[in-house]
Amino acid sequence: MCPPEYYDVDYVINPWMEGNVHKSIRERAVEQWEKLYNIITQYATVELIKPQPGLPDMVFTANAGLVLGDKVVLSRFYHPERQPEEPFFKAWFEANGFTVYQLPKDLPFEGAGDALLDREGRWLWAGYGFRSELDSHPFLAKWLDIEVLSLRLIDSRFYHLDTCFCPLTGGYLLYYPGAFDSYSNRLIEMRVPPEKRIPIDEPDAVNFACNAVNINDVIILNKASATLEQRLREKGFQVIQTPLTEFLKAGGAAKCLTLRLTEPILETVHANEPIISRVVEMHGHLLDTGLMSQALDIIVSEGGSFKVLNFNLGVERQSPSSAQVRISAPSQEVMEDIISQLIDLGAVSLPQEEKDALLEVVDMDGVAPDDFYVTTIYPTEVRVKGKWIRVANQRMDAAIVVDDSQEEITASCKILRDLRVGDKVVVGVEGIRTVISPQSREERHKIQEFSFMSGGVSSERRVELLVEQIAWEMRHIRDRGGKVVVVAGPVVIHTGGADHLARLIREGYVQCLLGGNAIAVHDIEQAIMGTSLGVDMMKGVPVKGGHRHHLKVINMIRRAGGIANAVKQGILTKGIMYECVKNNVPFCLAGSIRDDGPLPDTIMDLIKAQEEYARLLKGTDLILMLSTMLHSIGVGNMTPAGVKMVCVDINPAVVTKLADRGSLESIGIVTDVGLFLSLLVQQLDKLAQGYQLTAR
Ligand code: ARG
Repeated sequence: MCPPEYYDVDYVINPWMEGNVHKSIRERAVEQWEKLYNIITQYATVELIKPQPGLPDMVFTANAGLVLGDKVVLSRFYHPERQPEEPFFKAWFEANGFTVYQLPKDLPFEGAGDALLDREGRWLWAGYGFRSELDSHPFLAKWLDIEVLSLRLIDSRFYHLDTCFCPLTGGYLLYYPGAFDSYSNRLIEMRVPPEKRIPIDEPDAVNFACNAVNINDVIILNKASATLEQRLREKGFQVIQTPLTEFLKAGGAAKCLTLRLTEPILETVHANEPIISRVVEMHGHLLDTGLMSQALDIIVSEGGSFKVLNFNLGVERQSPSSAQVRISAPSQEVMEDIISQLIDLGAVSLPQEEKDALLEVVDMDGVAPDDFYVTTIYPTEVRVKGKWIRVANQRMDAAIVVDDSQEEITASCKILRDLRVGDKVVVGVEGIRTVISPQSREERHKIQEFSFMSGGVSSERRVELLVEQIAWEMRHIRDRGGKVVVVAGPVVIHTGGADHLARLIREGYVQCLLGGNAIAVHDIEQAIMGTSLGVDMMKGVPVKGGHRHHLKVINMIRRAGGIANAVKQGILTKGIMYECVKNNVPFCLAGSIRDDGPLPDTIMDLIKAQEEYARLLKGTDLILMLSTMLHSIGVGNMTPAGVKMVCVDINPAVVTKLADRGSLESIGIVTDVGLFLSLLVQQLDKLAQGYQLTAR
């Protein structure tokens, strides 16, 4: 232990210290520390280290290092504020006959604060996430020759493992599950049987109940609730509470204030290879496009850690950079999660360790092997028999089926329900890469800027500028015989956009319309009755009995035998659906549980509707998504990268959700959809006039 002569809260390096700078009372701290010291000396011999001025946190000797037998792994503090403590602890260990191991520079590890031995000596629990780096764990395993189990901390209040985790005599474990990610909780549950686990709730956790000193059957801690004390007593422990509130202000309590120098060593246990690692190579505009930081973020947020082995910075604007990054993960499972996300970013594994994709055979129709690789919208290649094969029918959320029975090997995306027994499906993450050209990364970057998603709400002028570009694009697509698909919700009608959309269809700007029952019903209601959901579209006021209008209309169309027949019979004479029929623009209406009617045209078999959507979407150049989240998401899932998307909705959340599919070629516009359509039509008119002028 280290006497609190210079103890204070001088800086903030954990959430407990916030607001507590210089708020700790020295006399009370001394009094609390002495009480703790006196209790511990009844059960153990206590050695003291001399405190140092200017090092207030040196009282927390748990962070001096990790001791096992006569070896100690010295701490490398994460925060500069505590780094000057290192030489003092080092000197003490050396003077007391310990062999001191020191981690490489810049590889933080905070000693027994983040590494706790199983009290039976069977293994070492090691924490990471805030203060200690995952990559320090293999060193612990090697130097101390012990199995290391890595646990990831995710709640910043419990930044050290000993703040939320305390192995006890007899194989018991006192811990706060909320401080760990789900993978770590599973690991704990696998190693510690239920009758040995003592999970605590947050109220005890924030009193640092887990930060306990355990000597045989005695547990010394700051504070425990009556129920917790009772539970511990039932397991045969004696609980001694001694207030350490002054030290809580710095984020520590009983256990932090001590370092155990005698830990059990089992001759029979040995090191394991706890961490797996893998090197990936990345190319492209890694910095300009933020790709590098995205990749590193993914690694850390998924629970891994990394080391950048080398980075070749492209110095000119046009020259790409390349990097090699070594990824470490506590398990194969976590590694695969990380790698699959990096594949989506376009990071590829090193050529010399390139392997063929793993294939597993489907053993049940419509069901993939458990570990199947889930596809993205990006162009993908899989390695089969040493060759990279481009995957056909690229879409999101599908499996990749490989056919290597013929000379020419093929691969294609198949959704789960289309899988058949005998299909060979790609599993795991080996031999898969996405091919995103540096150009499209560059584009992705530009578009991000351009779609002003970050600003959330678009200013009027911004909307106008975007509409100008979209109009220009649509004009070009029409001129070259391309394909524009409109996905529309009934809001188009309610906001007065029906006439505009009808005009776009009539003038050849739209090649296909996708929606649900409602867009058609309300369009037809407006065409026949002049109302939309019972509201007079000219006067903007509800019409008496208007709420029944849409049902009347559904009934009429049902009697006519469908929309096309209603047009033929002269019942339907204008509007969006009318223009579709008149101009041979195919449409598909996908049904849902809330549909009234439905119209005879609405496909209520959703599998059929999905298939029809997918069929109609083939070869699309541009998709306009107008105020319909459900149908738009459905469309997004079926569409590969490279197809331009414009998503218009008054709700920024919807726009973000849709336009942010990796932000590739998608533009989000937060505005009233009726207004958007009116601007679009105006702009197309302007362009048309311009063309006439040049023609003349
Ligand atoms: N203020 C110290 C820090 O943030 C408290 C250390 C507590 N020690 C511990 N083993 N949890 O580093």
